[in-house]
Amino acid sequence: MADIFFEIHADNPREGPGDYASTRRAFLALKNLPGKPAILDIGCGPGKQTLDLAQLTQGSITAVDNHQPYLTRLDKMVISRRLQKRVRTVKADMFSLNFAPGSFDIIWSEGAIYIIGFEQGLVAWKKFLKLKGYIVVSELTRLKANPPQEAKEFWEGAYPAMHDTAGNLAIIARAGYSLVEHFTLPESAWLEEYYGPLQAKVEKLKPKYKNDPAALKVLAAEDFERNSYQKYSAYYGYVFYIMKQAG
Ligand SMILES: C[S@@+](CC[C@H](N)C(=O)[O-])C[C@H]1O[C@@H](n2cnc3c(N)ncnc32)[C@H](O)[C@@H]1O
Repeated sequence: MADIFFEIHADNPREGPGDYASTRRAFLALKNLPGKPAILDIGCGPGKQTLDLAQLTQGSITAVDNHQPYLTRLDKMVISRRLQKRVRTVKADMFSLNFAPGSFDIIWSEGAIYIIGFEQGLVAWKKFLKLKGYIVVSELTRLKANPPQEAKEFWEGAYPAMHDTAGNLAIIARAGYSLVEHFTLPESAWLEEYYGPLQAKVEKLKPKYKNDPAALKVLAAEDFERNSYQKYSAYYGYVFYIMKQAG
C-alpha cells in the first residue's frame, strides 16, 4: 500500500498547493531583512518553494524534510542551478529539530505545519528564530461557515484540527507573534500547480492497477479529494500567515 502512495507522490513538482506568485507575495511582505537572511524551510518536500526562495533572496536556505527521496531530488536541482553554497538539505524530524537557538531570520513552511499542528509548530519552532525574526506558513483553513454535510464529513475525517482564520489569528497571538499579513492561495495553486500533475499520474496508474482493488481504492481516494476541493473550495483553502516574533 505504501508503494502505490509513493508512486503517486514521487517526482511531483509540489506535494501541496502553492505557487510562485504566492511565495513571492509572502516573501515581499517581510521588511528590513538582512541582505542575506538565514532561512529554515521546514517540510520542504520536493523543494519548489525552496528554489523559489533562492530566487527571491541572496540568503541561505536550510531545507528540512524526513523523506530522503525528496531531499535527494532537491539536491540534484540545487546542483544543476549552482546553488550549493546557499541551499543545503537536512534530513530531520520537524518534531525534534536540532538547530542552535536564534539561528534563523526566517522560518518558512508551506503546507507542512499541520503535521506537527499549527499551534505546536509555532510554539516549538520559535526558539530557532532570531529576535524579531519572521515565520511564514501556509495552513489549511476554514474559509466559510456552515459547509455542506459532505464537505464537513470529509474534512472532519482528513483534518479535524482545521480552524477558521479567526481561530488561527488567535493562536498566532497566543504563541507570541504579531501578524504581518495573511492571504488565501488562489484556486489555481491547487488545481493547476498541485492537483494537475497529480491527476495525470493517477490516470496513468489506473490501468496498471486495474486488477488490484486496494491500489484502486488509493487512486479513487486521490480523485475524491480533488473533486471535493473543486466542489467545496469556497469553504476551505490554504491561507498564508506571515508573522513576526513579538519578542
Ligand atoms: C504536504 S507536503 C508539503 C511539501 C512542500 N512544502 C510543498 O509544498 O510541496 C508535507 C511534507 O512534510 C514532510 N514531512 C512529513 N512528516 C514530517 C516530519 N515529521 N518531519 C519533517 N518532514 C515531514 C513530508 O515528507 C512532505 O514533504
